[in-house]
Amino acid sequence: MPKATFSELRLEGVTRAFAKSVALSDLSLTVKNGEFVALLGPSGCGKSTALNCLAGLLPLSAGTISLDDRRVDTLAPERRGFGMVFQNYALFPHLSVRRNVAFGLQMHKTPKAEIARRVDAALNLVQLSAHGNKHPSQLSGGQQQRVAIARAVVMEPQVVLMDEPLSNLDAKLRHEMRGEMQRLHRELGLTTVYVTHDQEEALSLADRLVVLHDGRVQQIGKPEEVYLRPVNTFVADFMGYRNLLAMTADGEGAGGDLHVSGLGMSLTARHPIAGDARGAVTVAIRPDDLVVGEVEGNRIDVLVQSVEYLGKDFELEVQTEQGARLFLRTSEHLSIGQRVTIGVRPDRVMVYS
Ligand SMILES: Nc1ncnc2c1ncn2[C@@H]1O[C@H](COP(=O)(O)OP(=O)(O)OP(=O)(O)O)[C@@H](O)[C@H]1O
Ligand SMILES: [Mg+2]
Repeated sequence: MPKATFSELRLEGVTRAFAKSVALSDLSLTVKNGEFVALLGPSGCGKSTALNCLAGLLPLSAGTISLDDRRVDTLAPERRGFGMVFQNYALFPHLSVRRNVAFGLQMHKTPKAEIARRVDAALNLVQLSAHGNKHPSQLSGGQQQRVAIARAVVMEPQVVLMDEPLSNLDAKLRHEMRGEMQRLHRELGLTTVYVTHDQEEALSLADRLVVLHDGRVQQIGKPEEVYLRPVNTFVADFMGYRNLLAMTADGEGAGGDLHVSGLGMSLTARHPIAGDARGAVTVAIRPDDLVVGEVEGNRIDVLVQSVEYLGKDFELEVQTEQGARLFLRTSEHLSIGQRVTIGVRPDRVMVYS
């Protein structure tokens, strides 16, 4: 089966409504050949719905899916040429690893010699060549996961769709498998749409992120764009901007910096909000962007309320004189009850109106 080539997978206005709710609304996205795109968001935001629509397991209520100029949303799942890796592996328990991987090729009546060659190559790729004759129950979770991946890639799909493929694994194995995923993607150059609710996983694997909330796209961008410049408070919160503060914008200073005040703080932000520079705003700051000591005029005097040891550093809860609570991460050893000045670089203060 020759691998069909395409340059773009395009989703336009993809919507999936159920009787009483809309699970996914107006998703428009172009995935380039060879690109790794992660769909990211909290439980219930519509990630699996989007993937199942792509796979053809759920019909669209509106919109189109195309490979270049060819519509594929009208095709049955098996005719789209997409591979799917499910969260729960869905391996056949009564078949050996080899036969699990060979299954799809057998269904396509691929010649025996070719099946043997491709299954060998796929098992080699996921580093399971020594386990071909075992049954799934004799494998670890990570190994089973790799069988599921081999079973998808052996078909040489045009696009691989993965729904939280690492979510059943423990932290160490997840981390190892993340490396494996990267290696596989590099070696095969497979176009991948990958669903996860884990922002670290998405940041480390994807070329581009699509952040969803309540079935709607919030932001599409490169990992560093989404991480450093979340477009709204939802994305900021999801990307770990744990300090979300109701403050007031007091207008622009020299050089276009924005001054915000409230809760016993007066701060300068380097990337001011678009629109009105005065009035109620939400300020978002990551705990690891707050540092001990004043920074470029940004000075907050606080009292240490609690200290949590995290191995490499500490997470502190501190309080301003007006009682606002802030979280900061630091390697400095501070004690409860200590008074301390903290600061934040103006370009790490996000302001949303
Ligand atoms: N068959 C269905 N009928 C009605 N509503 C549904 C159906 N399937 C999903 N939904 C709703 O659509 C929304 C999105 O569900 P979806 O499974 O896509 O979320 P998800 O982002 O994959 O979440 P999770 O991270 O928990 O897997 C949810 O509110 C869910 O309740
Ligand atoms: Mg899901």
